[in-house]
Amino acid sequence: MTKVCPYCGKKYYEVKNIPLWIPESIRENMRFQPKCNCLKIIEEEKLKERERRKEREIINKKIKRYRDISLIDTKFLRSRFENDRYGDKYLKFAKRYAKRVVEDNNFNRGIVFIGDSGTGKTFTSSCIANYLMDNGKTVLVINFGLYLNRVKREWAEAENDILNFVKLCDLLVIDDFGGERNTEFAIEKAFLLIDTRYRSEKPMIVTTNLSLYQLERKFTNRIRSRLEEMCYTIKIDTKDRRKDIANENFYKFIA
Ligand SMILES: Nc1ncnc2c1ncn2[C@@H]1O[C@H](COP(=O)(O)OP(=O)(O)OP(=O)(O)O)[C@@H](O)[C@H]1O
Ligand SMILES: [Mg+2]
Repeated sequence: MTKVCPYCGKKYYEVKNIPLWIPESIRENMRFQPKCNCLKIIEEEKLKERERRKEREIINKKIKRYRDISLIDTKFLRSRFENDRYGDKYLKFAKRYAKRVVEDNNFNRGIVFIGDSGTGKTFTSSCIANYLMDNGKTVLVINFGLYLNRVKREWAEAENDILNFVKLCDLLVIDDFGGERNTEFAIEKAFLLIDTRYRSEKPMIVTTNLSLYQLERKFTNRIRSRLEEMCYTIKIDTKDRRKDIANENFYKFIA
């Protein structure tokens, strides 16, 4: 009886001098050995695949943890580059930016998206965030107003843990910065958030209706100066897209 490798078809060689003290059933298994190293290569491949799967599981778990504490809604989850309806220069820039963050672990520039209501700031930053999460990056998304409410109530004791996530995530998104009432509490929490991220030297996206000057007036120059050092400032000057959507819905309604 001869055995051949099931992968390359090469014949196995017969081992003649197997010691007699080895039990027959084991000797039978030792008798024919491959000349090729197909089995070894396949075993190594399987091992590597198992390790890759384990790594992916760890990353997915991490992503899930960040998603769980992120202030994410269904609209956020639908905001993806493939759902873009306008193809404007901001979305093109955002796509290039997202790719760069995924490919270059040392890339740490952020973005401040400034613009009027409805210009697509949240949509654009959500597209970036979703793209990063699809590519194994951890993203923490914070709506600043909601964050303040939560820190005041249910997160009061967990604030340090949240700030730890702020420090460690691959991308931090702060949506609607400066949209809330101006209080000592808001100013203090805003500084803590921005400064924590600033010290981590990792990228951050901020969306706001305010200009840098207005942000400075609202939150102090210490915040403005950190944002300017860390981020590109992009002024979005598209039309109010909510009006488009409202018109479309109206036409659908009367059609
Ligand atoms: N490129 C796009 N493709 C498809 N829908 C878009 C696009 N940009 C914006 N929208 C939609 O237009 C609406 C307004 O966009 P978005 O919420 O991002 O505005 P915003 O600038 O964040 O406004 P605000 O300052 O009031 O928060 C949303 O319903 C959003 O999903
Ligand atoms: Mg918004």
